Amino acid sequence: MSYLENYIRIGINNITVSYIDEGKNGAPAIIFIHGFPFNKSMWNKQVGALKDNYRVIAYDIRGHGNTETGNGDFSIDLFVKDLLALMDNLKIDKTILCGLSMGGYIALNAIENYPQRFNALILSDTHCIADTPEAKDKRMKAIESIRKSGSEKYADESIKNLFAPESFTARKEEVSFIREMIIKTSEQSLCKTLLALAERKETCSKLPEIKVPVLIMVGKEDKITPPAAAQLMHEKIKKSFLSIIDHAGHLSNMENSGEFNEYLKKFVASVY
Ligand code: MLT
Repeated sequence: MSYLENYIRIGINNITVSYIDEGKNGAPAIIFIHGFPFNKSMWNKQVGALKDNYRVIAYDIRGHGNTETGNGDFSIDLFVKDLLALMDNLKIDKTILCGLSMGGYIALNAIENYPQRFNALILSDTHCIADTPEAKDKRMKAIESIRKSGSEKYADESIKNLFAPESFTARKEEVSFIREMIIKTSEQSLCKTLLALAERKETCSKLPEIKVPVLIMVGKEDKITPPAAAQLMHEKIKKSFLSIIDHAGHLSNMENSGEFNEYLKKFVASVY
């Protein structure tokens, strides 16, 4: 399943951003933000499930998929500026925002700084903490390894933690789709994004200030951002709902899209 790809130039560093914009123009919007180091096509099944009733946008974060890298370092703040520039260009004043993992870090930073632009959040397989010194150290080692051995080795190492064990037999297509996405990401972008992730700030202390409804979803077997981290966010966000997705690890929207989409559709219908 593929969708018509659009490109738009945005002011920050003058990059061209690649995105899909499906469904009815003028209908309430939902924007999907992918995780690291993937791209917008990880949301194909969610776009398909929502496009008959809503305007559905999924875009490639800078340096990922078909969006340009631009100049300078990456940061979560910069990714948020890109998101707002994209919304302005597409004339989207307010939207539901759905982010997976790194996409969730971006969504949480965005609502902290621009709360008036969002109707609701969907936080999937993500958490609100900053990197621990050990996590930062792992990222620096990953950068060294990518520079020395390239992205294929990095893809093979990271894949092991991304999926629930059963997905390696039951979801072979999704596993190789994700591997392709990782390999397609340039080494420069992998390294720049790893640095941005290591430097990101925590958002846990700001969660009680979130006023809009929030759906939190997490794969039961997510090893990277486990259900306990989702539970912690659920406790801190007043109007939040928590759904644990069976038969899924860190990529719950792809490993069990059926269950994921049921919760997603119900939540979106309750907001719009
Ligand atoms: C992701 O899926 O976006 C990454 O696991 C995020 C991270 O490495 O912190």
